Amino acid sequence: MKQERLNRKELDLQDPEQYYLWLTANDDTSSASKVPPSNDDTSSATDVLHPYLHKIFEVSDKYLKRVFNEKLLNEFKMDCFRYIRGNRNSTIEQFVKAYYDLVKREYQKQYTGADSDLNQSVFSEPHAPKALWGNCLDFLRRMDSESVQLMVTSPPYYNARDYSQWQTLDDYLDEMSSIIKECYRVLDNHRPFVFNVGDIFDNDNRHTKSSWGKRRIPLGAYFTMIFEEHGFQFVDDFIWDKGEVQTQRHKNGNKPYPLYQYPVNCYEHIFVFYKHRLDKTPYPCPICGCLKVNGNAYSRVGVKSWECKNLKCFERSAGNRGKRFSARTQLMTDLQQSENLVEEDLLRKWRRDVVKLAPVIKINSKGQNTLGHTAPFPKEIPEYAVRVFTGVNESVLDPFAGAFTTTIEAFRQKRNGIGIELNRTMFRDAVLTRFSNTLGTRPKEVEREWI
Ligand SMILES: C[S@@+](CC[C@H](N)C(=O)[O-])C[C@H]1O[C@@H](n2cnc3c(N)ncnc32)[C@H](O)[C@@H]1O
Repeated sequence: MKQERLNRKELDLQDPEQYYLWLTANDDTSSASKVPPSNDDTSSATDVLHPYLHKIFEVSDKYLKRVFNEKLLNEFKMDCFRYIRGNRNSTIEQFVKAYYDLVKREYQKQYTGADSDLNQSVFSEPHAPKALWGNCLDFLRRMDSESVQLMVTSPPYYNARDYSQWQTLDDYLDEMSSIIKECYRVLDNHRPFVFNVGDIFDNDNRHTKSSWGKRRIPLGAYFTMIFEEHGFQFVDDFIWDKGEVQTQRHKNGNKPYPLYQYPVNCYEHIFVFYKHRLDKTPYPCPICGCLKVNGNAYSRVGVKSWECKNLKCFERSAGNRGKRFSARTQLMTDLQQSENLVEEDLLRKWRRDVVKLAPVIKINSKGQNTLGHTAPFPKEIPEYAVRVFTGVNESVLDPFAGAFTTTIEAFRQKRNGIGIELNRTMFRDAVLTRFSNTLGTRPKEVEREWI
């Protein structure tokens, strides 16, 4: 290709093919091309485009055309050529990231219920905690798909508190099911939902309202069914050993005879459910950045894996097999940054699936309830979840925020903490008192009608 044919002035550089030719031609003369200025190009004259980006497109073009339509592919190419800078490794890294981002944006467009103002408020300023007052189902329905990297919560335990009064257990489970379905949509792919719930003692109100109808209700089992019904995979169940709890309910020690005995309830579940939405989009090889990949076996249910078919890739096995990877392994590699390192002490504390944690004490020595009718979980639960399942700046949502323990802990760990609480008094107490007492700052209140 002759250099004079590629005179920049004669070319339409808004056309990615011509832009590409221009850059490729410039490669002939130097190892790194200067990027031509364009109307909205904010790069400085010293930014360089590594020629390896052209290589990626050269090898991947045919495959990219299978994934994106012509218009999208052109936009993608233009963006890559405008914004991707640096040496070969950072070119590969940026290309791979730009590709994943585009695939995600296109997926998100399929959901039409999102409210851009709400999403803007909730996902901007990752270092400000966000407090939302209202029904989490309404908020969730307005949030972008796959926009939150971790959910941590403890739902109302059916009618165990005076703030929650469902007619029957079925009404309660139906409502929780609608919420969990929406959580699945909003949670990012290959990410977990950490869900703390207890198997409480209550009347299911299916047959009778009398106190004889009271029984142990295996909420943990019911929730597991609901989560799986909506596509989540059950992965872990930590048993939270609460030690000697304040309640003496059902000890029945004054009737030391057979069939009178029930244990005091001193455990709760801390479930870990994962979302693995099967996504068959081919992804670029993390080693060479090229999209010349073939579908491999599923590495686990909902996780499609790929094998690089670029014979010039920088990593090939002894048997000349290409790099094998999946969107999930890519995500795990991305999170391996020093800022996300998890301390050994924390890992040791949660090494076993029975974890002893002291419950939050609500009743003081004078018998007074110091925390109103909320039932906060110990901060160790969100602390563990946030550190072990997310990286710095990622978003953590608690749809049943109560005293906003999760949101506060996420903020402490430099994550974007988002909490939704329905009860006005609890929301008010948290926003006006709890945040300032623990963090010395007030959260960003999204939609402030409560005042
Ligand atoms: C068990 S408490 C959560 C405790 C919380 N983990 C903490 O540490 O404070 C459950 C909370 O969910 C709230 N809630 C119940 N239904 C809700 C809904 N549909 N949307 C938002 N919050 C809800 C209740 O008001 C209650 O504060």
